[in-house]
This record gives sequence, C-alpha cells and structure tokens, in this order.
Amino acid sequence: MTSLAAVLDATRYQSYVYAYPHKTAYRPLDPPRPLGPLWAGERRDALFLYLHVPFCEQRCGFCNLFTRPVPDAALVDAYLATLTRQAHVVRRALDEGGAFAIARAAIGGGTPTLLDAGQLTRLIELTRIMGLARGVPMSVETSPETALPDRLAVLVGSGADRISIGVQSFVEAECKAVHRPQRTTDVHRALGAIRDAGPATLNLDLMYGLPGQTAETWETSLASALAYRPEEIYLYPLYVRPLTTLGKRGAEAIDHDRIALYEQGRDGLRAAGYRQVSLRMFRREAAGTPAGPVYCCQDDGMIGLGCGARSYTRAVHYSTEWAVGARGVRDILDRWVERADAAFAVAEYGFALDAGEQRRRWLILSLLADDGLAIAAYRTRFGTDPAADFPELAELTPRGLAIHTADAIRLTPEGLGRADALGPWLYSADVQRRMAAYELT
Ligand SMILES: C[S@@+](CC[C@H](N)C(=O)[O-])C[C@H]1O[C@@H](n2cnc3c(N)ncnc32)[C@H](O)[C@@H]1O
Ligand code: SF4
Repeated sequence: MTSLAAVLDATRYQSYVYAYPHKTAYRPLDPPRPLGPLWAGERRDALFLYLHVPFCEQRCGFCNLFTRPVPDAALVDAYLATLTRQAHVVRRALDEGGAFAIARAAIGGGTPTLLDAGQLTRLIELTRIMGLARGVPMSVETSPETALPDRLAVLVGSGADRISIGVQSFVEAECKAVHRPQRTTDVHRALGAIRDAGPATLNLDLMYGLPGQTAETWETSLASALAYRPEEIYLYPLYVRPLTTLGKRGAEAIDHDRIALYEQGRDGLRAAGYRQVSLRMFRREAAGTPAGPVYCCQDDGMIGLGCGARSYTRAVHYSTEWAVGARGVRDILDRWVERADAAFAVAEYGFALDAGEQRRRWLILSLLADDGLAIAAYRTRFGTDPAADFPELAELTPRGLAIHTADAIRLTPEGLGRADALGPWLYSADVQRRMAAYELT
C-alpha cells in the first residue's frame, strides 16, 4: 500500500470515489452469473432502481461518462424498446427470489431529459414494470437546454421528487473553455422551470478549477446558484480525464486553484446555511432530510437498467462494458440494443467481492462522508472491528485527518478536503492492479 506520507505529498485530486470497486476494475465474470440466484440471497426490502439514459445534446470537453451525443431518433427508439425488454427479464429474475421492494429510484445519464415528454412517459412505465410504486423517492438528472416544462411535468407528475441539473458555471466563457456551449439565459430559464414544476429537492452541480475561473467569477456562480435556494448543491473539482476533449488537448487542472476555490465554495455555502455532507455534496440545513427510508449506500442493493448502468449485490457488482471515445461508445450501444433477452438474465461483466472487499467497500463509502464510519453498524454487519481489519486507519488521526471515538471514525474538515486522495489510498492491491491494467477505449 502507498504510504500515507506519499499520498499527502501528491495531488489531492486522485479520483472521485462514488463507488468501490471502480468500474475499471471490472472484468468478464467467468462463468456468467444468472440474476435469479444472484438476487435471491440479497436483502430485498430496500432496493435502489437506477435507469441509465446514455444520450446528450453534446459531449462536454471534461466528461467521461458513458454517453452518446446527438443520437439519431431510431437509436433512441431502439434503446427504449430494448430497455423495456430488459426490464421484463430482470423483473422475472427478481421474482424468482420472492417479494422485493424498491425504496428509491434514479434516472441518470447522460441527460435523461434529452428524451421528449412521450419518451419520458415510456421510461416511467418501465419503472412500474420494475415494481416502483408511486410515492417512492425518485431523482432525475437534467441539463439547462433540456429542462423543458412539458418534460419536467411528466417527471414530477409521476413522482420525481428530486431534479438535479448540471450548471457548472454561470459564466458563459468558462463553459465555452471546457467545450460546453451553454447560455446563461437557458440556465435561468431551466432553474425557473424546475422550481415551477415543484419537486421537493432541486440539486445544482457547479464546477471549480475551470480555465479562466477566478475567485470573483466563482463567487458570481455561487451567488447565482444560491438565489434559487437549492436544497442541494454539488461542487465538483474539475478533473481532466483521458480521451475527453480536454484530456486530448493536454489541458491541466491546477491544484492550487482547485484548493483555494474549494475552500471559498465550502465556506460560502456553510455561511449560507448548508451542511457539508461529503467533499462534493452540500445540503441546505432548513431543507430537512430527504423523504423516504434512509438509503444505505454502503450496503443496499442497486438494480441498474440500461447500457452503462451498474448493479450492485453484496457479493457481485456488474454492468455492461464502458467506453469514453466516440467509437467505443457507439459499438457498445449498437450491440446492446440488439441483445437477445437471454443476455439480460445473466451478469457477464463485473467484480466479485470477497469478504475482505465487502468490508473495504463499507469502510471507504462510509469514511468519505461527513457522518463517517459508525463502528456499531460495521460490527453488526461484519462481526469484526474496523480498526482491527484496517490498521492503516490509525495513521489518519495523528495527522489531523480523522477523529476516532468510541462510536465512529470521522474525517476532519482537513481529511474531508482530501477525500479524493484518501479513498484511492484505501483501495485493495488487487483493485489497484486491475485498474492500472485497464485499457480505456
Ligand atoms: C450526468 S452530469 C449532470 C447532468 C447533465 N448531463 C448536465 O451535464 O447538465 C454529471 C455531473 O458530473 C460533473 N462532472 C462530470 N465530469 C466531470 C469532470 N471531469 N470534472 C468535474 N466534474 C465533472 C458535472 O458537474 C456534471 O454536472
Ligand atoms: S456533462 Fe452532462 S451533458 Fe455534458 S457530456 Fe457529460 S453527461 Fe452529457
């Protein structure tokens, strides 16, 4: 394992750890795992349903998500038809294990609202095939150009209680500099439309470390966002990733800028009444806690539908293959829409988590959030003590990065600011090896 001293000397922007293991650690599963038995042994009373819509109006220069810009109408239609077939197959597989309940859902991308109102209605019907009841919390991602009133009306009218929009910046020149043509008038129109549609939670994404961004322009973006009193705000440090337009042009994100802008953003949001939940996420205190049962991201199962979606059981994470480059995305999507039903009944590509990796996943996902790792919950789940399982955690406290009490291990503000370095530091040697050997297309 890399020494903590070396980690602290290197850039603090190593990797955004929103899942563990990272998808570049996935490989073909041999043999493939039939979904019925895979899900039968899970806790099934609080599953998360995720639908992936891999289409956008453009490919932003910083983005490495699995998405195809400006898809033709025939592809979108074929995609929805195949997604419906997949939903029926996966529903049958889940039914093999008896009753189950979806406690939370999300429609993400890409940009789901690239679909028109009729297509979004088809998407909602598909969530019903999966057993999603009305009233269950559902989040949907949107963008400034596509957050149109008729589309939002379908979504909110069908129970979406959280709409999340990527804004990145209220300064047009900054968006242009990262190859995201965006008009600030569209951003304001979209935010107004979301507020009019009336979901309980508006989330807004902003980015810092953009070329040309200064403390003053960052302040403009923060203040413009706060004017809408969003219940949640995500502040994303810019990452320049391989195969993106910025990456191919050799652009660089400067640590010094990102650190200063992060601190400015964090302090500004705190002063405006927001609680920092993780390195990126801030939630308005007065907004209270989101509706529905608390989703336990460390442990609850996720059923992902669509090309590019991931699914998590305790012991196996699986997905379709992934690509960033235009040709890679096109090939994977073109093959996916033609898949036979039988192919959706098995997990073919992913990562099998042994007992050690399951513990590690729990540790990483808990530690990187403000609440930290609850020791009793970990003991109940695994029967062991986290400090004994991961002796390296003891290195964090003397450096002022974590506080270890009888109840929990929590990152300090200094530690939370370094979450993108501390997460990868905790990856297992096997996951690191697989990630290093992965060839991105
Ligand atoms: C699925 S998009 C949000 C919805 C919609 N597609 C849009 O762009 O408006 C996910 C978010 O991830 C963030 N993001 C993506 N790539 C990033 C990168 N390289 N560096 C920092 N943030 C990034 C952006 O803030 C973006 O809004
Ligand atoms: S940032 Fe959003 S709109 Fe841009 S390419 Fe990524 S998913 Fe699409």
